[in-house]
Amino acid sequence: MNSSKYFNFVFCAVLLVQVLVIQSEEESVCYAELGCFSVDEPWSGPLRPVPLPEDPSVIQTRFYLYTRRRPTNRYYVKTWPNIDMKNSYYNGSKETVFIIHGFMSTGNDTWLNDMKNAYLNNVDANVFVVDWGVGASDGEYNKVCANIRVVGAEITRLSRYLIQRERASPIRFHMIGHSLGAHTAGYVAKSIPGVGRITGLDPAQLLFEGFKKEVQLDADDALFVEVVHTDAKPAVPLLGAGILRAVGHVDFYVNGGWSQPGCQIPVISLQKIASRGISFTPVEDIVDSVICPHNRAFEYYTEALAYPNCTFWGRKSGFIKSAVSILSLGWLSRAFNYPSDCSITTCTPLGFRTIDFPARGSFEVATYNSPPYCISEEQVDAKMERELSLYLYNSADVI
Ligand SMILES: *[C@@H]1O[C@H](CO)[C@@H](O)[C@H](O)[C@H]1NC(C)=O
Ligand SMILES: *[C@@H]1O[C@H](CO)[C@@H](O)[C@H](O)[C@H]1NC(C)=O
Ligand SMILES: *[C@@H]1O[C@H](CO)[C@@H](O)[C@H](O)[C@H]1NC(C)=O
Repeated sequence: MNSSKYFNFVFCAVLLVQVLVIQSEEESVCYAELGCFSVDEPWSGPLRPVPLPEDPSVIQTRFYLYTRRRPTNRYYVKTWPNIDMKNSYYNGSKETVFIIHGFMSTGNDTWLNDMKNAYLNNVDANVFVVDWGVGASDGEYNKVCANIRVVGAEITRLSRYLIQRERASPIRFHMIGHSLGAHTAGYVAKSIPGVGRITGLDPAQLLFEGFKKEVQLDADDALFVEVVHTDAKPAVPLLGAGILRAVGHVDFYVNGGWSQPGCQIPVISLQKIASRGISFTPVEDIVDSVICPHNRAFEYYTEALAYPNCTFWGRKSGFIKSAVSILSLGWLSRAFNYPSDCSITTCTPLGFRTIDFPARGSFEVATYNSPPYCISEEQVDAKMERELSLYLYNSADVI
């Protein structure tokens, strides 16, 4: 993990160097059933020097299926040359979930397993953990950004199989992606009409933010798109890894979205410097300061799924959000937002039920500094519970 963290840091720090990387000569490449990929605009350009994606056999996308009948011993889905899901317990009439990791990560990382457990404990779903760890492990960030197009095409191919052969309904798809995985989820949903839900966990910023909708996660991709922002600060010069802009129907800016409490390095490195002297290189600490807030996105989301009695309330933010993002005043949002008047149009909880609430827009969330991060507020919970059941009752009436 140390070397992967190191690469993660390097990718941020050497962005400007990578921008000068010369583009590959071929203009497009075709990978059988996955289709053709080009480096035409908007996929590549002077400001987005992203090469062609690597061969699917290099990227080695794998799918591990978990269900309540098989919750721990994963079912490895054979996808080539033909998809084979015999004896898998996949059930197309239940919800289908894809959990997709990001750069320098793999499907074997514990957070995907934790999130899968949290999901299955609450919902009788089909949960696919997508492992594209080989394709994600190239230290060259630009190349990995290209590879997610192939990963997206692999997930799309499997999804079409599930829709056609297993009679799954896209509206019951829930795609959850962290970092580059969030954009991958967007690619899949762009090619399958009517995907129900995408959860983008701190979607990657570099080479995505500021570019066309086609290359990044967007609210138009699915019927409901929600985004958790935990490291939304400029990559240059602050090494932020997550996108700044709100791109979903609901965007949660946790603790201001800029930095996360407990992640700051100065305390740790000052201690280390004090105990070991200034020659001790705090590179690990710097790396942690990049990775820590970025990874909090999946920690918060897993916690939100795991503990229904412990809610991360998002409170609607207007100009305050912009102010805290720009000025890095996460603590200010807390001061301004707690407590405030919550109604089902101004507040929404992070987790399974976000989609049920009618509130849309950007929301501020406050957490504790260490797990369990969620702040339980029973009064809000009880009030919102009543309002929501009334709302759902009335909207069901209308339909
Ligand atoms: C699939 O799920 C549906 C709904 O939960 C259930 O009624 C059905 O029996 C399941 N099919 C199989 C083969 O288990
Ligand atoms: C994840 O684990 C499986 C089984 O141990 C292994 O085959 C696969 O290569 C691993 N994935 C990565 C990216 O290392
Ligand atoms: C939530 O429930 C768990 C187990 O059901 C319990 O251990 C925990 O204390 C509860 N948390 C709150 C904030 O009520």
